[in-house]
Amino acid sequence: MIEKREHWTSDLGFILAATGSAVGLGNIWRFPYLCGANGGAFFVLIYIFFMLLIGYPMMVSEISIGRKTERNPIGAFLSLAPNTPWWLVGALSVFAGFVILSFYSIVAGWTLSYMANAIKGFSPGMDYQDMFIAHISDPYAPLLWHLVFMILAIIIISLGVVKGIQKSVKIMMPLLFILLLVLVVRGVTLSGSMEGIAFYLAPRLEQVSWHTIHRAIGQAFFSLSLAMGAMITYGSYLTKKSNIADNSAWIVVLDVIVALLAGFAIIPAIFAMGGDPAQGPGLAFIAIPGVFAQMPLGSLFGFVFFLLLSVAALTSAISLLEVVVAWLVDEKNWGRRRTSLLAGFIIFLVGIPASLGYSVFSNIEIFGLDILDTYDFIASDLALPIGGMLTAIFIGYYWKPESVIYETEHPRGKWRIGRWYSFLIRYIIPVMILAIIVLGLIEKFK
Ligand code: PHE
Repeated sequence: MIEKREHWTSDLGFILAATGSAVGLGNIWRFPYLCGANGGAFFVLIYIFFMLLIGYPMMVSEISIGRKTERNPIGAFLSLAPNTPWWLVGALSVFAGFVILSFYSIVAGWTLSYMANAIKGFSPGMDYQDMFIAHISDPYAPLLWHLVFMILAIIIISLGVVKGIQKSVKIMMPLLFILLLVLVVRGVTLSGSMEGIAFYLAPRLEQVSWHTIHRAIGQAFFSLSLAMGAMITYGSYLTKKSNIADNSAWIVVLDVIVALLAGFAIIPAIFAMGGDPAQGPGLAFIAIPGVFAQMPLGSLFGFVFFLLLSVAALTSAISLLEVVVAWLVDEKNWGRRRTSLLAGFIIFLVGIPASLGYSVFSNIEIFGLDILDTYDFIASDLALPIGGMLTAIFIGYYWKPESVIYETEHPRGKWRIGRWYSFLIRYIIPVMILAIIVLGLIEKFK
């Protein structure tokens, strides 16, 4: 039985869904510490520069591929380039999405469990480093939260594009903005927060290097959910009446705004409470509970923070699950409900070793990385940039930039992309991505 393809019922529905995919742990948890460690205001500027130079054109490209073909990533390449190996680019992105979701859900499970902990209350005397290690090295609890998180994603995806994704993001995205604003106001009004703002926005040239640029480009890709099939898939549910260039601009701008606001929510609060905002990935799970523990009504704000992270993670996770489900539904004619359940369950299983890498399998190391970081490395540092580069080459030299320009002109919107786009997609973007792949590998293995 072939069902009619669903479509977003409005541009707003699409923008919220795509922004939901883009805004995730990457904005709220990763961006502030990247800023802290990579040059403050300089990082912000370099990041925005690459969001415009690479992120925006790639966003327009992926949405155009999706809307033109009305197919999942593999089907999209098959239909634009039949009888060629280009479908492998789609396969690579479905694979990357699959792997990313399997460990993204583990980290999302941590946020759910911290949310539950916040209800019990964070207390000032606790050692949060110990608490975090104790949490992740428990073999059972994180798996239970990973399961809870995957079940939430499965429920939404099994309800379909309009009744599941669109309906849920219309509730979750406004909630996300409100929670974030609450935390920004709280953060910047703490006494001592000025120093934090100064730190966040101070330009520190001495921290800027090739490494900074590499991080900024990688963050632009990850943060916009590019090269993982998510935007091709969401674009495939866009009606022919919608303008692609304008919608893409909204997504990129909102994504940048959330990242910048997350910096205002987190960095001043950490400063005001005497923490170190450059401490790295432990920022959310170690520094933040400590910060909230010292604050009046700290448990409430702690709850708000981890709820915010959980919502952000869920609106991203559903876009990854949808990539895999759309492929099986489109190409294999499977029913949506059964597929969501089966795909979600397999992703849950694949995630298990990544979680156990901190307990039973803690002696396993692959090139010095634990299992979760290995998944992250394979997907984020290899599959993702390679997929992005090949997508740019595909458009630049096979499908042709004019085809994307045509899509964005029908119908025409306020924003127009033109000759600049062709130049960027053919020459600049593939070369820059190749550079980050090489720099990334050198950095990992030196
Ligand atoms: N963009 C999400 C974030 O910033 C991560 C993500 C990547 C989500 C790819 C979906 C697809 O956290």
